[in-house]
Amino acid sequence: MKNWLLVLAGISAFSAVRADSAPGTALPKAPTVSVSSPNQVLTVEVTESDGFPVYRVLRFGKPVIGYSHLGFVLKDAGKLAYQLHVVAPTEAPHGVDETWEQPWGERRYIRNHYSEQTVRLTEPKGLRRELEVIVRVYDDGIGFRYAFPDQPQLHDVVIADELTEFNIVDPATAWWMPWGESHDTELVYQRTALSELSTSHTPLTLRTKDHVHIEIHEAALVDFAGFYVQRIDEQHLRAHLVPASEGWAARRTAPFKTPWRMIAITDSAGALYESNLELNLNDPNVLGDVSWIQPGKFLGIWWEMFHEDWTWASGPKHGATTEHAKRYIDFAAKHHFRGLLIEGWNVGWDSEWAGDGSSFSFTEAYPDFDLPAIAAYARAKGVHIIGHHETGGDISNYEAQMGSAFDLYQSLGIDAVKTGYVADADQIHHKAVLGANRTEWHDSQYMANHYLTVVKEAAKRHIMIDSHEPIKDTGLRRTYPNWLAREGSRGQEYNAFGVPVNPPEHETNLVFTRMLGGPMDFTPGIFDLKHIRPCCSVPTTLMKQLALYVVLYSPVTMAADRIQAYEARPDAFKFIEDVPTDWSETHVINAEVGDYVTIVRKDRHTDNWYLGSITDENGRLLPISLGFLEPGRHYRAEIYRDGAKAHWDQNPYDYVIESRDVTSTEKLELRLAPGGGEAIRFVAEPIAKQH
Ligand code: NOJ
Ligand code: CA
Repeated sequence: MKNWLLVLAGISAFSAVRADSAPGTALPKAPTVSVSSPNQVLTVEVTESDGFPVYRVLRFGKPVIGYSHLGFVLKDAGKLAYQLHVVAPTEAPHGVDETWEQPWGERRYIRNHYSEQTVRLTEPKGLRRELEVIVRVYDDGIGFRYAFPDQPQLHDVVIADELTEFNIVDPATAWWMPWGESHDTELVYQRTALSELSTSHTPLTLRTKDHVHIEIHEAALVDFAGFYVQRIDEQHLRAHLVPASEGWAARRTAPFKTPWRMIAITDSAGALYESNLELNLNDPNVLGDVSWIQPGKFLGIWWEMFHEDWTWASGPKHGATTEHAKRYIDFAAKHHFRGLLIEGWNVGWDSEWAGDGSSFSFTEAYPDFDLPAIAAYARAKGVHIIGHHETGGDISNYEAQMGSAFDLYQSLGIDAVKTGYVADADQIHHKAVLGANRTEWHDSQYMANHYLTVVKEAAKRHIMIDSHEPIKDTGLRRTYPNWLAREGSRGQEYNAFGVPVNPPEHETNLVFTRMLGGPMDFTPGIFDLKHIRPCCSVPTTLMKQLALYVVLYSPVTMAADRIQAYEARPDAFKFIEDVPTDWSETHVINAEVGDYVTIVRKDRHTDNWYLGSITDENGRLLPISLGFLEPGRHYRAEIYRDGAKAHWDQNPYDYVIESRDVTSTEKLELRLAPGGGEAIRFVAEPIAKQH
């Protein structure tokens, strides 16, 4: 495509913008504002090139992100970019170094250590508009957000698109999922050269030839359109805002700030996963006392529907009956599960609901499901029902009933709700604008507001939310800790849909892509791995299903299979019964994106540690040291490992469960079968009983 900039600026000036990796390349003449991270690892420079504001990012002095444009296209008001000049700041960057505590999470304490500078951009001629870029630089990544000051000529800000670019300097491999396709965020991840990427959702994960790992994403997506990236040429990416049905992308009244554009930059896959950049860029908790928010594991009247034993719809195979619910509550109570999800309980499932949720009632139960009686039965047994609101994408129908639906659940002591938005990527529909039928993308500004409204309405009633078909996770759990988890990628359910089933490398991709955004309700723990409907099998060993409880973090984690599957293998089920969902520490022991990963986490409430290790279709021998354990202390390692003949396809049930005494000085060799995994529970011996 012919770029008008190229024509105006001439080839040499153009390459000064794009190809800054060569030493001695002519630098732009405008002021350069430079902000470095606390330990001088990363530096962000903001300057101008060919009349455009640009930024770049250097790691140890070497450009990782080359000069890249900043700015916007406004609706009917031109670009807010060209001839926007950098004003040299009068004050030096300021630093912050603080530690905050998470109410729940992968770790208890998070250090927030950065340098920040606000850079003013002004138009000296014409409309004389102003824009600010707030830049924060950490040792493991950077964030910047735009601030629109209030100004008479730019008060009602109608944004057509964004011009932010990400110009990756070194040749890189990309793990990505195209934006805008059917099934949207629920596609198989691609691994290609970055130069072959078309469009991509974020988080987008890159690894350069020198093993620098990069995540491009956003933080605190509030009252704004989400962005995806498009490759313009070579390794040069540009942000696009998701369009709204009204002919623009985002509309706000100044003054306001956009979400953060963030780029995590580390020297390993493990450090990328361990980065707290996204959470640190979000605002602190606004809900006050959140002691009512309780992580936990849950079972569900759910996988039977995927097997087609039961149905969501009413009729002879209806799943959500009083009788089935009592059976599941009994099983949940016996095995100490906090929650039980019940889907298909409410009127509306008999219609063609996917993409048309207009028939759903969120307060009326089917006649064979006695909601108050079930809630009372569960309460008496210490089990918490997880409610379900599938909208089919009809937001007007849902919003009209949302208040009374949450009131009903609250009155029955139901403190968690799974929501659903099954509709094609741009087929969320509502009548909010002049009563006309409108359709929106799941990641539009309209939907960013909708998802957060649901979370806020739920919080008022002390209800936790797990959103399926959600907007992407941008770390809002910090600000609204009742937003526990989301789906937002290809979950275990695709191993029953089979279009196709998830490849054996799927979960090793997820950890370094989708999971960088935040907790995912993946629904691990399938024990009946073969013959899920005639089409499908789960392409993992049984032990990998256990390892996923440690590897794929979520404060609410399902044991997704049917009761009979767990009753048939109580030895392996023991690990699911034991594993917690809330942690005080998390460390990645070894990892390569898309190939393998070993994660250890310490239970928030005991001294016990848990290890999960998974591999793709290749078997692996992974030596590890137990140095993460408390020195001098003895632990009983309960090991759940692939057997010698285990293989995800031919022999997924070959496994060994064994125990041994270990200390922090020991080494273990994990032997993962093709498509396999290993899970270990390290039970800390009481101090008095130390050998
Ligand atoms: C898709 C969700 O991912 C799944 O968990 C749910 O059961 C169905 N929609 C029905 O709501
Ligand atoms: Ca889904």
